[in-house]
Amino acid sequence: MSTNQLDKKSEAWSALFSEPMSELVKRYTASVFFDKRLWQADITGSLAHAEMLAHQGIIAAADHEAIQRGMARITEEIESGQFEWKLDLEDVHLNIEARLTQLVGDAGKRLHTGRSRNDQVATDVRLWLRSEIDLIVPLLNELQIALVEVAEKNVDVILPGFTHLQVAQPVSFAHHLLAYVEMFSRDAERFADVRRRTNRLPLGSAALAGTTYPLDRERVARTLGMVDERGEPLVCQNSLDGVSDRDFAIEFTAAASLCMVHVSRFSEELILWMSQNFGFVKIADRFTTGSSIMPQKKNPDVPELARGKTGRVVGHLMGLITLMKGQPLAYNKDNQEDKEPLFDTVDTLKDTLRIFGEMVGGQTNPATGAKEGGITVNAIAMEEAAKKGYATATDLADYLVKKGLPFRDAHETVAHAVKAAVSHNCDLSELPLAVLQGFNASIEKDVYECLSLRGSLEARNTLGGTAPAQVRAQIARHRKRLG
Ligand code: ARG
Repeated sequence: MSTNQLDKKSEAWSALFSEPMSELVKRYTASVFFDKRLWQADITGSLAHAEMLAHQGIIAAADHEAIQRGMARITEEIESGQFEWKLDLEDVHLNIEARLTQLVGDAGKRLHTGRSRNDQVATDVRLWLRSEIDLIVPLLNELQIALVEVAEKNVDVILPGFTHLQVAQPVSFAHHLLAYVEMFSRDAERFADVRRRTNRLPLGSAALAGTTYPLDRERVARTLGMVDERGEPLVCQNSLDGVSDRDFAIEFTAAASLCMVHVSRFSEELILWMSQNFGFVKIADRFTTGSSIMPQKKNPDVPELARGKTGRVVGHLMGLITLMKGQPLAYNKDNQEDKEPLFDTVDTLKDTLRIFGEMVGGQTNPATGAKEGGITVNAIAMEEAAKKGYATATDLADYLVKKGLPFRDAHETVAHAVKAAVSHNCDLSELPLAVLQGFNASIEKDVYECLSLRGSLEARNTLGGTAPAQVRAQIARHRKRLG
């Protein structure tokens, strides 16, 4: 290299090239304007590599010190916005290395010993994603806590439970919310699991085959916190695999897609519940918008956007998995396309979880310490709706079974009773005893207990059922689990 400094990426490899890259190709192949986001991980990885190189006697201690000094300066420059990112230098790695060499001379040029951008970028993405997962899991926990808090206040609120969006059986509103807590707790488990496979070190795989220098990869893994529960280093065991696979990113995006699908189902329900036809809940005004033409409107934009953005994240999963499918071993430039979908998945998921935590649970008022502005529940509207759909018909069938009728016969008898109630335009519980006895003589006065919504709820007192006692037990379990 003729100069002491890399100004153009062509200078990063060799004098082999007889013509410069066209501007269009430069733009097409460059990634710096999105992968500069990896700068911190890139510096962290480089410092761990340099420390190991010095420890192994591959570079001098003075070079290691110079690299540390240079990287500290670069960190300041990036943080203060003074760092000049150059498209000519293609990506985050070459930009930082070029600046390092500009700052500390030959020591900067020695950093890349025993390393390639292939294992460097694989390491950076893993380090970056690991730290993002560590932010996502607490956000998921906060959303779960918000749901549990609303559940706690609504154990005795009765919601029509639906199947096929037809009123089916009454359920506790808290029970309904806790269904989402279950989904989000599994999402958190999935992210923790993805983290275990993300947290492995590709560095030292070099371009694809390993390197001739006596590297201590396990030392680098320890420095970077890529260790298991017992503190044993986690290192990618095959160099070809280490530089080329992005399955951890695909897995992450799959977990994120599922999590967004859960948010999306909840959004769909909020949107329905907020409509005038249901009127079950309200969300704080700051999560809604008005219409420019219809003054009466308050639209649930946030849940609608979350439902829409779910499509976007699922799209990223399709993008990433398709990106991988045709790639021969080992590294291919296709992999540069992993970043934008991955970054956008992380951003979308984090924003969504943050907003939903606040929309459901409200914000803590610093003056009172109380949470304000979460979802408001219209218990009367819910209960009225539950009364409309013969939601206790199954309870009447179960009552007859307890009187000795086979379930299929009980089912048939109740169908007749419902038909009668429909023609009288009343609920089952409003049919006189004599009328009910006309369908089956064993029916007695106590039938009205099981025909009430509350009686129906209380009767479902098995593990995982909607009886208030079961729901309270689940709330206690989640409280303990979520801390
Ligand atoms: N910007 C590249 C990426 O994101 C870095 C690795 C480039 N390696 C290479 N051999 N061209 O994958």
